[in-house]
Amino acid sequence: MADSVVKNAWYVAAWSSDVTREPFARTICGEPLVFFRDLEGSIITLADRCVHRRYPLCLGKVKGDAIECGYHGFTYDRTGTCISVPGQDNIPRTARVRAYPTVEQVPWIWVWIGDEDLAASTPVPQHPWLSDPKWTWIGEMARIDCRYGLLMDNLMDLSHETYLHAGYIGTPEVAQTPIESSVDPEAGLVRVNRHMESVECPPFYEKSTGISGRIDRWQDIEYAPPCLYVLHSRIAPEGVLPEEDGSDHQAAHMKILYAVTPETENSTWDFYAVARDFALDDEGVSQFLLDMQNVVVQQDVDALNVLEKVIEGEGDKMRELSIKIDSGGLAVRQMLRKLREAQNS
Ligand code: FES
Ligand SMILES: [Fe+2]
Repeated sequence: MADSVVKNAWYVAAWSSDVTREPFARTICGEPLVFFRDLEGSIITLADRCVHRRYPLCLGKVKGDAIECGYHGFTYDRTGTCISVPGQDNIPRTARVRAYPTVEQVPWIWVWIGDEDLAASTPVPQHPWLSDPKWTWIGEMARIDCRYGLLMDNLMDLSHETYLHAGYIGTPEVAQTPIESSVDPEAGLVRVNRHMESVECPPFYEKSTGISGRIDRWQDIEYAPPCLYVLHSRIAPEGVLPEEDGSDHQAAHMKILYAVTPETENSTWDFYAVARDFALDDEGVSQFLLDMQNVVVQQDVDALNVLEKVIEGEGDKMRELSIKIDSGGLAVRQMLRKLREAQNS
């Protein structure tokens, strides 16, 4: 695991609503973790293995700001230090489990798995559209039996929408329109832009935005490796451009966010959210977007589960062939490789 996954990074581990005063278990980057809230509501994240006999702490009880192992009662505080063992007063000095830096940015809980000293100096990726009242959003999570990189390939190349998601978000123009991709090493971003002019409005957008007729449809991806991917989607009546001051009232905007987190080397958590700046109070639109996004994600999950099996079974026996549409995905592979090399050296 150490070599194949970037660990010196913030990853989304859970939704805020997942973590309560009951222990919540989840494996991130191969590390079994237990999450719970202290008496003030802050999140405590510890290794989910008791030092005594490795019983998962998630099967124990939260007591105050500590967690008590459900097997023989070893109790750990927020720093992972054991503060009580049964049958004796002195506690072995090595009785501690690892505590993980954790930041809650509603609706997501971010955790740091790698070198702890680097956590404080690394900013947590921002996702303002999930908390700004000018936006509303829907979201869910999927678990995929595929390595992290396969989901990144998928997200960086949206031409697959035309085929894998035909009849949903895919129209022929998506695959037909060339992309521009670029790497911004300063900002640590990979960008892929696809601007479609005067295209048919897919039923997905017609229903949810109320814009009909021919549209200009922009898809601007910004990916901040390794975890946060944002697709800035703009739908406007044909020929309408944003104003010089950046305002863009005639257009509808969506931010399609994916937080991609390795569970293990061969499985991935896919947190997704669709934020929009129109029809804010329309529950019907929210439900429509959620149902649609769930279908689309499931189509990706099904495809990636198949692909992982093929790759696991056959290894590198067959070489892949890349074309222009893969430039964003290839840039991402290179960026992730550099991050891994920096971490492992
Ligand atoms: S395994 Fe946790 S106290 Fe024994
Ligand atoms: Fe997809």
